[in-house]
Amino acid sequence: MRRQSDDTASISFTGLYTGEVWRRNDLAPHWLGSGAGPWLYRGLVPVEWLSRTLGGSNLRTILLQRHRIMDHLLAHWIREEGVTQVLEIASGLSPRGHRFRQCFPELTYVETDMPGMAERKRRALEQEGALSEGHQVLPLNVFHREGPESMEAVVAQCFRPSEPIVVITEGLTSYFTLEDMVPFWERIAALGARHPGSRYLMETYLVPRSGAFSRAIRMGANALGRLSDSDVTFHFADAGEVEQVFRGVGFAGVRVHDPAEYREHLDLPSNRGDAVVRVVAAGTG
Ligand SMILES: C[S@@+](CC[C@H](N)C(=O)[O-])C[C@H]1O[C@@H](n2cnc3c(N)ncnc32)[C@H](O)[C@@H]1O
Repeated sequence: MRRQSDDTASISFTGLYTGEVWRRNDLAPHWLGSGAGPWLYRGLVPVEWLSRTLGGSNLRTILLQRHRIMDHLLAHWIREEGVTQVLEIASGLSPRGHRFRQCFPELTYVETDMPGMAERKRRALEQEGALSEGHQVLPLNVFHREGPESMEAVVAQCFRPSEPIVVITEGLTSYFTLEDMVPFWERIAALGARHPGSRYLMETYLVPRSGAFSRAIRMGANALGRLSDSDVTFHFADAGEVEQVFRGVGFAGVRVHDPAEYREHLDLPSNRGDAVVRVVAAGTG
């Protein structure tokens, strides 16, 4: 069922947990945290332990796998393919914008989130003197199709036309149904008309539709959905389904990256069995 309300700020607290994971793994500076982050982190220790012991992986493993693969792909596109513009949607307390601007000062990096989270992030960066014309934090709601908080308005305001943009969402799409995400992905693919060569980078989770593993992981997802008042959903069972949907919404090329491909090149935590997370890189052609 299509969601009734555009106000999805109830999801924002999850960014405090991921923010703490980035901090504890030396991906984020200490000042990019929150008062609640350490409490959430400690509170989830038993759940993370149980999940790793029984299931061979846990949320922290998945978060670090997806984050480091996304960093790797973005850095590659900047170094090898001359990307100079990045729009990160739902960036929460992610340190990526700050880290990438330190490594690549010529990059235009616009971070966005729901107004409350964007304001929190903006203040943290501003206090450190880390904002500039090339690095901004703005409010953006993925369900707004027009008005100042729409992706289209932010793109028109902040990015040079005719040049490609890398659009990133990390930890966002699984809080919504596929039906809710498809129109949003269509809008990202449509950015390619004014910004040829643009790309979309996101993560997804491949979960079979039946079986004991599927039931266990869906139970966890339902609990997270209740806590965040959202429709936590696994959209795809295999990479073929991802490719089909992304081509269907208008992307020209789609590549689904498995953490297993990166074990030897990147510092990724390992899991027992197959990883569920995949990083999706889709090009607008
Ligand atoms: C799990 S957090 C991920 C944060 C960050 N990307 C990370 O990986 O640390 C989900 C984020 O989605 C944001 N969010 C929720 N609903 C949104 C919406 N409708 N539009 C844009 N962002 C939204 C939340 O505020 C929160 O920061």
